[in-house]
Amino acid sequence: MTRNPVFWRAKGRRPFSDVDFVVVFIVSENWWLRVAASPVELPETFMIAHRYAASRMFERPRGTNDWGPEDMAKRRFVESRFIQLAESFGFREVSTPTFESLDLFTAKSGSAIVRELYAFKDQGGRDLALRPEFTASILRFYVSDLRSRPKPIKVYTTGNVFRYEEPQKGRYREFFQLNAEIIGGATLPSDAEVLALAIGTMRAIGLKQVKARIGNIGILRGFLPFAPADQAVVLHSLDKRNFPMLDAELDRLGRPDLSKALRQLVELSGDVSILDQAAKILGSEAGAGFEYLRKIADLLDAYGVSQQDYAFDMGVVRGLDYYTGMVFEIDSPNLGAEKQVGGGGAYNLAEVFGGERIAQTGFALGLDRLVMSAEAERATETPRPLDAYVVPIGEGVQKKAIEVLMSLRAAGLGADIDLVGRGPSKNLDYANAIGARYAVLLGEKELKASKATVRDMASGVQREVPLTDLVDAILSRPARGPEPAKPKRRAAGTRAERSRRR
Ligand code: HAM
Repeated sequence: MTRNPVFWRAKGRRPFSDVDFVVVFIVSENWWLRVAASPVELPETFMIAHRYAASRMFERPRGTNDWGPEDMAKRRFVESRFIQLAESFGFREVSTPTFESLDLFTAKSGSAIVRELYAFKDQGGRDLALRPEFTASILRFYVSDLRSRPKPIKVYTTGNVFRYEEPQKGRYREFFQLNAEIIGGATLPSDAEVLALAIGTMRAIGLKQVKARIGNIGILRGFLPFAPADQAVVLHSLDKRNFPMLDAELDRLGRPDLSKALRQLVELSGDVSILDQAAKILGSEAGAGFEYLRKIADLLDAYGVSQQDYAFDMGVVRGLDYYTGMVFEIDSPNLGAEKQVGGGGAYNLAEVFGGERIAQTGFALGLDRLVMSAEAERATETPRPLDAYVVPIGEGVQKKAIEVLMSLRAAGLGADIDLVGRGPSKNLDYANAIGARYAVLLGEKELKASKATVRDMASGVQREVPLTDLVDAILSRPARGPEPAKPKRRAAGTRAERSRRR
């Protein structure tokens, strides 16, 4: 498509040389806008505009995202809090393929699931699918390779997953999960451990608005005297709170009498006291399931999980077919429609994949939604600024400037250098724009004296520093005037570099 650049000049119709700035914009399926801050920038601005007008632009596939440096800093912050906590709980990291045999996902859920997947044939005619979650892959891995390990097996993984969904804010076709599973522990303590890790992760991120809803799908399954496929349809209607569908299904199955109890049950939500009400609705047979949830509450108390952070909710049904016992979902109320940031529970997949009957429980948190929630609550950390931006002044100093740069990097500082060949004042503008704490100016005169000029970018204060003290100077607090004397430290870098500096 051809795009026609439109030029708009500030200060009315006057020659370009006489204006303060020029705005160039192009109207197409995307808006494109560039401001030439001064007449000097005009040629470059025009060139970019014409190149843009002539070229083809590619768009991201629907439901996917690009993440810039600021986004990635927030995402890594959230992810690292999960990883730190999971490691401290004794979980260890695993990794599984991004695509799997299609059968892995249809084995439990049937072929209807295919329309929710990115399923494809490879060039060898094999039916494959991009993973829509991690749980099935980890259980496949368990059955094929991890079974002989001491139990329980506690693993976590993070990465991208793919679902063919209708995209909207917070709901994507490629999204990221933080996932943890326990295989082979006793059911009750394992369920409590995954709940404590899931809720703890929210707290470790610094989120205040945390609400887990804990239910027990085992109780519902026990109450529904139907074959698994029919049970799944009834549970699906309860999950969606689609009561007309529920009634139609119960009519079809000849048990319309169950409708009232089910409707009452899924509306129950609150503290431990609702378990008594729920038990009354379902009768004595469901007693053990409610007792189990009471014990979960006791263990969460021992973990230090606040009662404010969770409620019991008999309406938690979960969308995936493999859950068998305790189930939970975590909401972040500040997110609007797509407020569910995580979910999980006890399930059975090992047997479906040819393994033994063994307890399995776990959860996944949606990274994209967690980050949105952390942004809304201002819980994300600001990214670490660049410590030093090295500015070589003059052709002859470039090699030495790189050596200085590398000595800063070797000391663990974040350091960058001019890669464009700009003059000092443009370089200072750039250092300012990227948020560097210090600029390290290296001219021939300074280097002859084995010194650098260090400029505190926040205060503008400049001072000469011996190269041997450069790391200390940059590690120190921002300068407000003359710096107090610092104890001498061995300068970073190789011995050859240090002797050269002396
Ligand atoms: P899930 O509830 O399907 O559970 O997904 C977990 C989380 O992933 C959701 O709570 C949500 O935050 C996020 N999520 C789901 N779909 C999307 C989407 N389209 N866009 C953005 N975020 C999304 C599972 O995946 C289970 N495998 C969890 C589990 C592990 N159960 C036992 N072990």
